[in-house]
Amino acid sequence: MEWKTVALALLVISLGFLAIPIRVPPDTSTEDVNLFKTYVSYYNKSYRHNPDEYERKFKGFQRSLRQIERMNRLRSTQQSAYYGLTEFSDLSEEEFLRLTLRPDLSSRGERHKNDRHHHRQHRTPGEHLNRIKRLIKIPTKNDWRTKHVVTPVRAQGSCGACWAYTAVECIESMVAIKNGTLRSFSVQEMIDCARNGNLGCNGGDICSLLSWLDDYGVPILAESAYPVTGTSGTCLLDRSKTSTVRVAGFTCDSYVGSEEELIATLVNHGPVAAAVNALTWQNYLGGIIQFHCDGAFSMLNHAVQIVGYDNSGPIPFYIVRNSWGPLFGDKGYLYIAIGSNICGIANQVAAVDVIF
Ligand SMILES: *[C@@H]1O[C@H](CO)[C@@H](O)[C@H](O)[C@H]1NC(C)=O
Ligand SMILES: *[C@@H]1O[C@H](CO)[C@@H](O)[C@H](O)[C@H]1NC(C)=O
Repeated sequence: MEWKTVALALLVISLGFLAIPIRVPPDTSTEDVNLFKTYVSYYNKSYRHNPDEYERKFKGFQRSLRQIERMNRLRSTQQSAYYGLTEFSDLSEEEFLRLTLRPDLSSRGERHKNDRHHHRQHRTPGEHLNRIKRLIKIPTKNDWRTKHVVTPVRAQGSCGACWAYTAVECIESMVAIKNGTLRSFSVQEMIDCARNGNLGCNGGDICSLLSWLDDYGVPILAESAYPVTGTSGTCLLDRSKTSTVRVAGFTCDSYVGSEEELIATLVNHGPVAAAVNALTWQNYLGGIIQFHCDGAFSMLNHAVQIVGYDNSGPIPFYIVRNSWGPLFGDKGYLYIAIGSNICGIANQVAAVDVIF
């Protein structure tokens, strides 16, 4: 049976899976049309009765199909990343960037590149020696999820506050590591209240947020005390609804060319927040990303939490938690090869300390 028929059949029958890997030969637009019909009803797309929108989305969909073919052709091993239809496959690149990512993240991050304030913990004398000592006892793999210090995957929806999601995820993990209790903290508090150049759902960056939390000793409320709304609103940081959890220092560093130190931080400190370029994640289904993910600083457009790594197989990789819901990638996670700043993952990495 042809790949396309298989894919189509799978798409129709596999109600349990929302993402199906496909491989489609070129010049088959009738089949593209049929595939799109199935796709639209499968994802219950809101534009299914709007002809103009339908046609526009079909163009984005066809572009995805060709890109999926190209990227799957590069798979070199069983572990390599594979691509197929996702809920984002009908978006043009421009729409994906605008609706899901923050193209301004790199210019925001640029401000911290030479900011010594954020480097204080990595630049203290004696630190270098400690770091070398620590590097000696690095295990082949470490997954913080197995230690119950990682909260369930969230869905940021159309709110461009990846920076807030990621920072809060790291705060949750650090509280759990220190106290043995895994609790969810408020992302909405960060969206509504964080100053320092952050703009709620319209953008911000991890290091500015951590710096604001640290400098002003802002209490970090529980998720239940300040629940997520998905839009930017007025700050409701009511001092009576307080919390004892606060940020007590953080680092914001580049590990480009020294990813073994990033691994050491992951082992000795805990999960970290990282800025990334997620442009090619539009049709990601699973596996380890090794190619087609530009690592340039200027390409940073998203933020994620790195919750572990695995050096035991032929392709060492980071375990990366996204905030696009549990249906994205592998139950909301993805895997990025270690060692050559793939997707820009080592450009801007934040580690946070908490007190309570
Ligand atoms: C499909 O979407 C419409 C709104 O666009 C909604 O009313 C309906 O419940 C959805 N159906 C399913 C099966 O999700
Ligand atoms: C720390 O653990 C104790 C005991 O389980 C719990 O009562 C307390 O709320 C926890 N503190 C934080 C900040 O999670």
